[in-house]
Amino acid sequence: MGNLINKKKILLIICGGIAAYKSLELIRLLKKDGVIIKTILTKSGAEFVTPLSITSLSQSKVYQDLFSIENEVEMDHISLSRWADLILIAPATANTISKLASGSSDDLASTVALASNKKIFIAPAMNVRMWEHQSTKQNIRKLKTYNYELIGPEIGDMACGEYGEGKMSEPKEIINKVKIYFKNLKRKNKLKAIVTAGPTKEYIDPVRYISNKSSGKQGYEIAKSLSKKGFETTLISGPTNLEINNDINLIKVETAEEMFQSTLKSLPAEVAIFSAAVCDYKVKEISKTKIKKQDEICLDLEKNVDILDYVSNHNSLRPKLVVGFAAETNDLEKYANKKLSEKNCDWIVANDVSNKSIGFESDFNEVSILYKNKKIERLKYKSKSEISDELVEKIIDHLN
Ligand code: CTP
Repeated sequence: MGNLINKKKILLIICGGIAAYKSLELIRLLKKDGVIIKTILTKSGAEFVTPLSITSLSQSKVYQDLFSIENEVEMDHISLSRWADLILIAPATANTISKLASGSSDDLASTVALASNKKIFIAPAMNVRMWEHQSTKQNIRKLKTYNYELIGPEIGDMACGEYGEGKMSEPKEIINKVKIYFKNLKRKNKLKAIVTAGPTKEYIDPVRYISNKSSGKQGYEIAKSLSKKGFETTLISGPTNLEINNDINLIKVETAEEMFQSTLKSLPAEVAIFSAAVCDYKVKEISKTKIKKQDEICLDLEKNVDILDYVSNHNSLRPKLVVGFAAETNDLEKYANKKLSEKNCDWIVANDVSNKSIGFESDFNEVSILYKNKKIERLKYKSKSEISDELVEKIIDHLN
């Protein structure tokens, strides 16, 4: 999770307590992960660690006074709180916690916290009785309602010789929590996209099935292009021999029904691209045992649910942009246009599968994109990966 906090700006507030020595290790590890740190050292914090040791490790100035001309010129308390991506108070003493809970602002640390519009993490450190005191408990409850995030404290031997809950969490644990926060934030800010790809298998009996020639290549390339461009991408794939990197959430399915259920579970999303060659029919009753040879056999088929049609016509689940695919051997644009309107898609990507050098098995493709307003764009013969990059560029332009 290293690069999750690379170049993030963290304002570290160090309060007075023996655990302050751990904050030096915290700074060292944060720096190692590429974090840009500014530090506020409270008056009592300065009794435990020196500004010089902090500056040496953080390679930046330590802020100590609320009313300092030097600070006001360089960075006042408001700018300091705005500068940070996140504020981390470690160690947070009972006194500071009490000040934060009451909204007091009589020093730089409490003023910056009160003026902040950022997430504030607190890692308390104090004697077990102080931690268990009703007033501290009440203050912590208040801070939680103010959206402060608590890290620890842990149970263990205390510097004062007692044992219990109140030890500051280890720097590694604190950094882990911070990384999870940034990871979730990144996920929250991302647009979601889902892609269906590959064929489906519709079983006849335990060893036989109906399927088609789809390789899934185009769909996999589209998922890769979306992920490269920052979409949180889910790829719902029928059986293929393809691999995909871990950034993409891959859901492997076999049947059309499984693909349908997985698609529903993956919604809502901003974009949905239906490139799968879903079998239109399934066997009405799958034989539980292997069917024996007979002179004649009759398979009773019924229609599978049309996933694209279902999602595209859904009142609440419909993504902002729904893209369908049409693979045709003749009258490409005529049939693609029919699908565009009948399935209520925004765009249809149509390709000619009668030509062996493009389409199913090939790494190359040539497609036409048909839009609702009757506009047609042709993407000339190129690799499926290039086609996907171009398609995703168009998707981004459209969403913007
Ligand atoms: N599709 C789907 N669910 C199905 C069937 C198709 O989501 N059960 C989607 C495909 O992923 C593709 C588009 O619908 O985006 C293709 O339409 P489809 O009607 O399946 O094409 P064909 O089977 O080729 O239809 P036809 O034989 O009528 O040309």
